[in-house]
Amino acid sequence: MLTPVDPTTTPAWTRLTELHSTLDPDLRTWFAEDPGRAERFSFELGDLFVDLSKNYLTDEVRAALAELAEAVDVPGRRDAMYAGEHINVTEDRAVLHTALRRPATDSLVVDGQDVIADVHATLAKVYSFADRVRSGQWTGVTGKRIETVVNIGIGGSDLGPVMVYEALKPYVQDGMSCRFISNIDPADCAEKVADLDPETTLFIIASKTFTTLETLTNARMARDWFLAALAERGIEAEGAVAKHFVAVSTALDKVAEFGIDPDNAFGFWSWVGGRYSVDSAVGTVLAVAIGPENFADFLAGFHVVDEHFATRAPAENVPMLMGLLNVWYVNFYKAESHAVLPYAQDLHRFAAYLQQLTMESNGKSVRWDGSPVTTETGEIFWGEPGTNGQHAFYQLIHQGTRLIPADFIAAATPAHPTKDGGVDVHELFLSNYLAQTAALAFGKTAQEVRAEGTPEAIVPARVFTGNKPTTSILAPALTPSVVGQLIALYEHITFTQGIVWGIDSFDQWGVELGKKLALEIAPAVQGDAEALAAQDASTRGLITRYRQLRG
Ligand code: F6P
Repeated sequence: MLTPVDPTTTPAWTRLTELHSTLDPDLRTWFAEDPGRAERFSFELGDLFVDLSKNYLTDEVRAALAELAEAVDVPGRRDAMYAGEHINVTEDRAVLHTALRRPATDSLVVDGQDVIADVHATLAKVYSFADRVRSGQWTGVTGKRIETVVNIGIGGSDLGPVMVYEALKPYVQDGMSCRFISNIDPADCAEKVADLDPETTLFIIASKTFTTLETLTNARMARDWFLAALAERGIEAEGAVAKHFVAVSTALDKVAEFGIDPDNAFGFWSWVGGRYSVDSAVGTVLAVAIGPENFADFLAGFHVVDEHFATRAPAENVPMLMGLLNVWYVNFYKAESHAVLPYAQDLHRFAAYLQQLTMESNGKSVRWDGSPVTTETGEIFWGEPGTNGQHAFYQLIHQGTRLIPADFIAAATPAHPTKDGGVDVHELFLSNYLAQTAALAFGKTAQEVRAEGTPEAIVPARVFTGNKPTTSILAPALTPSVVGQLIALYEHITFTQGIVWGIDSFDQWGVELGKKLALEIAPAVQGDAEALAAQDASTRGLITRYRQLRG
């Protein structure tokens, strides 16, 4: 096994340490004294314009970060990932989400199998199914066309599909809508199916392993609801499940055990991590909703960014630079969190999606060889769409004591162009996007506050120190390709950080203990005295109180 390089032992780290102790970030002065700064630190990435100039970035910092990437071999590990080497060491797996979006003309043989051919064979099956549902050729048991598609999954089998569905709402076929059930809280399933018509509803059970308790429980509850709703209408159940339930999984044998016809199951492979799977058959719900052509554009968007990431040197490589900047903030400025603030209502689930991508990937304390990490690792990702966030938590970003680097994402062309009293509402919205990063970077001095006639006693409260780092991302519009580009950008940012820290960003052992304990605790919750006695005092007390409350 290749030993990870300890980043703290590299000359680049020493250089960054020196730079950190001598650099006094002063964005006002940096911009005033360097008219070329904005242009020099702005980049084109596919359709995305990425402005890094309001970061703690200088030419020296950029060079040292690029040197760090070389020293820990980010380019080499990236190439190994693209080539299908087993870089997911703890699970002994290849990590090949980039293969999911390569053109059919490519070929990549991994472990004796041409994975690109497999990907396109599955895509063809997904697209054919999507076409049949969209055209009305695929009907429910009573011959009616499908109007609602319900995706049942959790984690990577839910967050990607729901985020992209919301982001691409304007592309959804008229007369069709999708819902997403994920939580094992029975309220989720009950509320999502309550007003559905069983004759026009199709369920997609998405689970990589097809063993996930939440998903299988929800799938059974949905099937029970469906059969009961048919019975209520006096409709014969024979053959109905096959017409209303399909599956997405790597475990096709388990799909069959559940009672779903393997012909109606779409496969993927162990080399696709759950949180990297929206571009696999896990996106079947999306292919149905937005259509195969738009889904193909979505994949093409990922590929544009993959190509950039694969071929650019670190100092010119946008995802790599953004990942390295995150390392700069986390390890040198001790930033504990990172905000992602889309100025696009349709991206309202983007931060939730990124939380799994980044935090399940990089929330680790040991390196891929089992040794302890030598630095802080994954920061907390969070966010809400602007302008809602402005009226909630921006106060803390502007005037709090913590450093919170933030990414601002906007699209130039709105999905719903609207005027209010002659004013383009989208332009009002984008003015906020622009104003916030300017305010965060340049702040407001005491002198400026006084000049407005502010009483001296409240001058300090109205001062903005500025120097809050932000990245601005501007896309032409929220198209399927752009959404693919955004996802790929953050996937590669996450990868870069993971390699610098020497961690396996593709396993998730941290979620296992809770899953196992929940199964062990369940009998105690259900009244088993022996199981109750085996619990710690706090858990025992909570279970006892719970059982009293339930009478
Ligand atoms: O949360 C742990 C996890 O394994 C995720 O990585 C995964 O996306 C999710 O559970 C769902 O797993 P599955 O798709 O196998 O149901």
